[in-house]
This record gives sequence, C-alpha cells and structure tokens, in this order.
Amino acid sequence: MKLTKIGLITSGGDAPGMNAAIRGVVKYAMSFNINVVGFYDGFDGLIDNRFILFDYSDVNNIVQLGGTIIGTARSERFLDKSQRERAYQNLQNQHIQALIVIGGDGSFRGALQFMLDFEIPVIGIPGTIDNDIQGTNYTIGFDTCLNTVTEAVDKIRDTATSHHRIFFIEVMGRNAGKIALNSALSAGADSVLIPEEHTSIEEVAQKVIDDNRGQRSSIVIVAEGDELGGAQKISEAISKILPNHDIKYSVLGHIQRGGKPTAFDRMIATQMGARAVDALMNGEFGKIVGLIEGKLELADLETSHNTLKLLNLAKLSLLEHMRTRKKD
Ligand code: F6P
Repeated sequence: MKLTKIGLITSGGDAPGMNAAIRGVVKYAMSFNINVVGFYDGFDGLIDNRFILFDYSDVNNIVQLGGTIIGTARSERFLDKSQRERAYQNLQNQHIQALIVIGGDGSFRGALQFMLDFEIPVIGIPGTIDNDIQGTNYTIGFDTCLNTVTEAVDKIRDTATSHHRIFFIEVMGRNAGKIALNSALSAGADSVLIPEEHTSIEEVAQKVIDDNRGQRSSIVIVAEGDELGGAQKISEAISKILPNHDIKYSVLGHIQRGGKPTAFDRMIATQMGARAVDALMNGEFGKIVGLIEGKLELADLETSHNTLKLLNLAKLSLLEHMRTRKKD
C-alpha cells in the first residue's frame, strides 16, 4: 500500500532538536507527497484528536528552536487501553497509516503497546537529553544539554575558585549517569556520582579531601538519581563530616532541557527524521532510528525502552586517572 499520510508526535520530556526532527519528517515526507499530521502534546493529543495537518511553511524557521512546537506530555491516560482505542480511532478516521514517535523510553513503551494493540506501524526517533535508549549511541538533545551543563559548571567554577569552595552540582538523569559522567569530563570536574556506581558517603568525603588538597576549589557532579540522593542531601551530609570545608550545592534543573539546539543536534535530528520516513516507505516498522558508530541504523522498538545500558567504564576510569596525582 502506498504511504500517503502519517501521524507524528513528540512525547515525554522535551529535548533540544525535537523541532529539527519535526522539520526533517515533514519536509522529507512532503517531498514524496506524504502528508504529515502532528498531534499536540504527545499521546494526549492523539486521544483527544487535537492536531495540525502540516503545510510545508509550518516548519519553516523552527530548526533553531528549543522545545517542541507541537508540545509534549507524559500521558497517564495512554496507559489505559480504552484511551488507546480512542487514539487509534482518530488515526483511522483520518486514514493515517503510520505513526512516528519522537521521545524517550516511556514514549517508546507506549508506542510499542499501541502497535501491539492495533497493528499500527510505528517508528521511534530517540529524543531525550538522557541518552539512555538501547539501540542507539545517541539521542537528540544530549549534545545541547552537555553544552549547557558545561557552561553552567564553568560559571560556578569562577565563584567556587574565588571563595575556595567545594561545589556539588546536580544534573538530570534519574536512572542514567550519562549527562553527569560526560559533563564531568567536559567541564573538568574532580569527581562524579552516578546511579550506575555505588559510592558510600565516607568515600565521597575522602574524595573531597583528596581532590581539594592544594586546589582553590573542587567540583563534584551529581546525577539526580544517585543512590546517596541529590546534591543538596549529599552536600549537607558532607558538611557534617567535613565541618571546616566551605561546601555549597547547585541544582541545574530544567535549564538543561531548554535552549537552541547545537549544530550536531540539528543535523542528527534532521537525518533521523528523514530516515524514519524512509523506513515507513520501505514497509519497516516496530523500529527506532539509531545512530550506531556514526551510521543511522534501525533497531528494535521492543528493546529500546529498556534503559539499562552499560556504563562507559573507560570514561569513568579516565576521570579517576585525572584526579589522581602521582606520588613519588
Ligand atoms: O527524561 C528526561 C528528563 O529530563 C530526566 O533527565 C529527568 O529526570 C526528567 O526528564 C524530569 O522530568 P520532568 O520535567 O517531567 O520533571
């Protein structure tokens, strides 16, 4: 059957570059006479039938914008089969033949269930600052987020150094330490605390003592999902153990999700958008578009939402080396 109409949503936490992906899908699809219907606010808009039939000009001048022009949501309602039935009817009524979902693990879980329920072809485009999707080395938004975190840490370092302070800086990542580990390297932090690795509070205190020896400041990056708690809890605990040190914390929060996407995010998002359309035209579905060793490859939607990924031990060990001074 010839593909003539597809649906598109952005879902879950927004990520810089989602607009570039929307643009990539719409412009590429329209070059093959395929219409694209964008539903507002993720699966919620699909349930309520709130949509825009994209015209070519609707996606002009959005490649540089953060957020998503069609909105997003973490839809609780989509967990309910009767609501998914409504969503499916809305697609049927408009003769929409397939759905592209731009999002993260939760969105892909919903997309998979939807596909299994109604046999509707679905393709996922990984868009989340967390970079924690199986089947791809990269998710849209990660590079922009890393740049934002790096810049913020640079600024905190200025004041930390002036005041001889130790800073615990919390970054996002409930289950994954990707943002924390990578920004620790890019911002030149002394240590990192991530959910994938166990560290006791006593070990953290020892690290702080070691790192701070002879330095004007120390920076510890904390992933929000670390088992010891967030930056506030950890800095309070460390202040009790090390009362003579000047210890502060900072939670970077949602600035990590906003802002202009980097050139890399725009480029990958555009390519992933087009690749998703290609996949559907070739009759491939139940897949996500992954970036594997520099190439766009399709991976299984079924396993993509399983966010357990191997920790990059090489990066962790590099960070450890960087904080260890050779003793003669
Ligand atoms: O999944 C992206 C993410 O930014 C996570 O890093 C973070 O834990 C979560 O979303 C925060 O979600 P919300 O904005 O819904 O609180």
